[in-house]
Amino acid sequence: MSKKFEALRGMEDVIPGEVEKWQWVEEKARVFFEANGFKEIRTPVLEVTDLFTRSVGESSDIVHKEMFSFEDRGGRHVTMRPEMTASVARSVIEKGLLRSAKSMRFYYIGPMFRAERPQAGRKRQFHQIGIEMVNEGGMNADLEAIDLLYRFLKYAGVEKPMIRINDLGGAEDQKKTALALQEYFSAQKEKLCKDCHWRLEKNVLRIFDCKVEACQPVIQAAPWEKIAPLSADFQKLLEEFQKRSIPFEIKRRLVRGLDYYNGAVFEVTAEGLGAQDALAGGGRYDRLYQELGESVPTPCTGFSIGFERLLSVLEKSAQPLTAKVAAKRVYVAPLDAAPEVVAFCSKLALELREKGIRIETAPGEFSLSKHLKKANQHQVGFVVIAGADEVKKKSVALKNMTEKTQTEIEADKLASYLQGVMPL
Ligand code: HAM
Repeated sequence: MSKKFEALRGMEDVIPGEVEKWQWVEEKARVFFEANGFKEIRTPVLEVTDLFTRSVGESSDIVHKEMFSFEDRGGRHVTMRPEMTASVARSVIEKGLLRSAKSMRFYYIGPMFRAERPQAGRKRQFHQIGIEMVNEGGMNADLEAIDLLYRFLKYAGVEKPMIRINDLGGAEDQKKTALALQEYFSAQKEKLCKDCHWRLEKNVLRIFDCKVEACQPVIQAAPWEKIAPLSADFQKLLEEFQKRSIPFEIKRRLVRGLDYYNGAVFEVTAEGLGAQDALAGGGRYDRLYQELGESVPTPCTGFSIGFERLLSVLEKSAQPLTAKVAAKRVYVAPLDAAPEVVAFCSKLALELREKGIRIETAPGEFSLSKHLKKANQHQVGFVVIAGADEVKKKSVALKNMTEKTQTEIEADKLASYLQGVMPL
């Protein structure tokens, strides 16, 4: 018997039935971010390993334990990108994109790779929708990024996004904070795990990423508030959230698992995610571009949303994504086998298809009750019904399956009517 192949662990196919939901979310993201002035950027999946070691950081779990890295045929050390912030920076610097523009705003949608232990909500190939606001410093850019993230999640249908936020301080403050934390953790070294001993040497902040139970009491008791009080700008940012009714919690132990951050860093949680509860994460990173070779200071902020986690939250919401996606389809129901009725319906179906509307129908079926049963199975949003009378009047009966209403519409106005009322 020949060998049966399977997809690698933690890497999944997206097959018809599922892929429509991906397309729905991708379309929402494109429309939203383009409308807000962001331009799409696509970078290669493979980059030289050093790019991530230098940006995400040698001491981060991502670089230390989770990268898919290998030597290519030319002996170069390459890595399948675990995230895209570093790749965007590499591209902007390499292409000199900031020479012709003061600041730039990018969005991206694509696969990332991390060799983590697969479980619900944690994959080895996963996808992100992300933005980067390049050469935009200060509190207003932080506010705009978080406001955009919150508004996008609401626009996509997430019911209760909650922002968790922390202030890592500016570059100077960070050095002082690191020294004070080093002193604190060194005094408690015997209570920490082996990995944390290594983190203490390499980058003390990474101790906060530790998941080992025994380390938690020491981590929880770290005197953050005394070592690094929240900055005045950060306090102003929180006031703006209150004014805009953006829900947030301050989490002083939120340090994010990547080395490039400073200032405001944040994550978003939402109902229905379980143990892997971060739906998105991001923050300010003002040093990265210079560390990767840019000659002038380039303050930035950005975030990435976990695509699979977003799908899972949307599926569990009051109006599941499966139903929303199906509601974009139209069922065409001819009520008579007479050639002029069949031809009339075929022509309508063709016109709608040409406008990009997805059509379901059942050839050879002319009973209204059977058509409606099929339309219900497909969970379509609308049913177009036509018999001999409609052909004579050059109109159709249009049933709105969500609102349970029926109206008569002239056949040549049907496509534009549907385009106007169908959800995006
Ligand atoms: P991150 O927090 O590492 O940030 O990832 C962002 C989001 O990707 C997470 O909140 C989560 O939803 C999703 N994610 C991460 N790992 C996995 C996984 N193994 N399986 C499924 N989903 C996952 C970044 O990647 C930064 N580049 C964000 C950023 C952009 N910061 C500034 N600009």
